[in-house]
Amino acid sequence: MTTKILLVAGARPNFMKVAPLLRECERRKGIRAILVHTGQHYDDGLSDVFFRDLAIRPPDYELKVGSGSHAEQTAEIMRRFEPVCTAEKPDIVVVVGDVNSTMAASLVAVKLGIPVAHVEAGLRSFDRTMPEEINRIVTDAIASWHFTTEPSANENLLREGIPDSQIHFVGNVMIDTLMACRDQAERSPILDVLQLRNGSHEAIPYGVVTLHRPSNVDIPGQLLRLMEVLQQIATELPLIFPVHPRTAATLQRLGWHAKPVGLQLVNPLGYLDFLKLTVHARLMITDSGGIQEETTILQVPCLTVRGTTERPITVQCGWNRLVGTNPDTLVTACHEELAKGARRGQQPPLWDGKASQRILDVLTGEKSAERVSTMDSEP
Ligand code: UD1
Repeated sequence: MTTKILLVAGARPNFMKVAPLLRECERRKGIRAILVHTGQHYDDGLSDVFFRDLAIRPPDYELKVGSGSHAEQTAEIMRRFEPVCTAEKPDIVVVVGDVNSTMAASLVAVKLGIPVAHVEAGLRSFDRTMPEEINRIVTDAIASWHFTTEPSANENLLREGIPDSQIHFVGNVMIDTLMACRDQAERSPILDVLQLRNGSHEAIPYGVVTLHRPSNVDIPGQLLRLMEVLQQIATELPLIFPVHPRTAATLQRLGWHAKPVGLQLVNPLGYLDFLKLTVHARLMITDSGGIQEETTILQVPCLTVRGTTERPITVQCGWNRLVGTNPDTLVTACHEELAKGARRGQQPPLWDGKASQRILDVLTGEKSAERVSTMDSEP
């Protein structure tokens, strides 16, 4: 009997999580995979380039919901996703991460009686002003399978009353993609394009910046202060800043332009270019969730411009540091980090490129993934 698995992707950080799951579904006999793209992200730079870079086949359904307020976007995804579920009658709906598409698709599926598997379940920042935190809590409350990336997630789910039997510690699908793409990313010309090599063709020391959290970029005064501080840091360490559309909109309102020293603002980069840029970076400055994980695996020091993280393992492993949202603290933290020489940190357990296999093993009932025994292992 064929198991029909419907995978949902909507926004940039979803695509690298869905890619290895889709590949694993299609590699196995007895599974029919259906891919739905909600269209929460629709620009070439936030969506299409990821399909090309990660060789994801075209979606079976494109819902083309586009942008809107949270209520509008969530409602539109639900309205357009319901007929797909009704027509396809999948056995399982798989959602990833914490974006509006994750929560919207989960609500639709569960109300139609279709069980939901949440990949990257249990992460908690304990900051309910983050839209992603609400998406995580709601999705986890109604999912039937909770696939976790780190021990803290198991603890959070158990505390919220999710039965242990529904929690599977499997590792990190985003790292599956990172490992699969490293060699290919090395062939990206991005260092030459951004003039980050010296006369001997070696990478010069540089940092990478990404900022797109509403708390950092929607308030013009906060973003302005951060930009001033980045400009200051860039006099010591050249910084490359691929600018998210949300951030670009505020910068445009502010009429802000980088001074022509050190700080390069560029359009959002594709997966392979960004991976290569990160691999060779001296430092990452970010408020992203996923980049905290990628830098941990790549052993690149990461300064996270947030007061909380839902991914504490990255801090425990020694590669991530929460510097808060005060721009002055960021300058000090940068100086401290640059003063440090080469150092060693640890790697999270099970971030080994095999998370998708473990997830499909559980979903097809082949075996139960690593459980509490693995949770106990120190990073
Ligand atoms: C969304 C996710 C966030 C994720 C981020 C990655 C939610 C609540 N947030 O935030 O968790 O880290 O994606 O990028 O789901 N826009 C474009 N082109 C696009 C998409 C959006 O220009 O393809 C612009 C629109 O003007 C939109 C703004 O970017 O208003 C923000 O997009 P939106 O999807 O609302 O949230 P993100 O900030 O991207």
